[in-house]
Amino acid sequence: MLELTDRTDFRVGELTATGLGTASADAVLVVDSLQFAEPLPEALRECRRILRPGGRVVVTCWEALDADDGRLSPRLRQLDLGRQLPRAGFVAVEVVDRPAWRLAEQTLWQEALAVEAGDDPAVRSMQDEAQRVLATFDGLRRVLATARAPHSAQASPP
Ligand SMILES: C[S@@+](CC[C@H](N)C(=O)[O-])C[C@H]1O[C@@H](n2cnc3c(N)ncnc32)[C@H](O)[C@@H]1O
Repeated sequence: MLELTDRTDFRVGELTATGLGTASADAVLVVDSLQFAEPLPEALRECRRILRPGGRVVVTCWEALDADDGRLSPRLRQLDLGRQLPRAGFVAVEVVDRPAWRLAEQTLWQEALAVEAGDDPAVRSMQDEAQRVLATFDGLRRVLATARAPHSAQASPP
């Protein structure tokens, strides 16, 4: 569990330029954000750069079931972590489906649509997003990817 201590601090950074030092992190966690990286391979190389040898990266995201599915945004269609993590220099790459997360997310959007929005702009906005998301939900898988930076001190990011 993450322990917040007086040595904990928060910084603003870019996925491709975190501002953190090389080999300065024991672990990197990227939650539902990787699709926004420009360019995506550079963000994965940045994760690799800041990890100490043997450090672990964990990514939660979505992937297209069909990369040619034109209904999906290019941001989501570009994700293929099983191929992209090794190319960024990671080893022990595992990408697994998380169907329970997918179901929870689907239920959340469905329940958002079921409430009476009235003239509440926040609820209306959420319902608009729910309609957009649910329209293409069948084209996505929910994934959890884990990988490791190589132990060898010689191994450097490609
Ligand atoms: C779907 S939200 C996920 C937020 C958070 N990780 C969570 O699970 O609640 C995507 C996040 O990515 C951030 N983001 C978008 N582009 C980014 C970039 N180039 N570098 C860093 N963060 C970015 C957004 O600010 C937003 O907070």
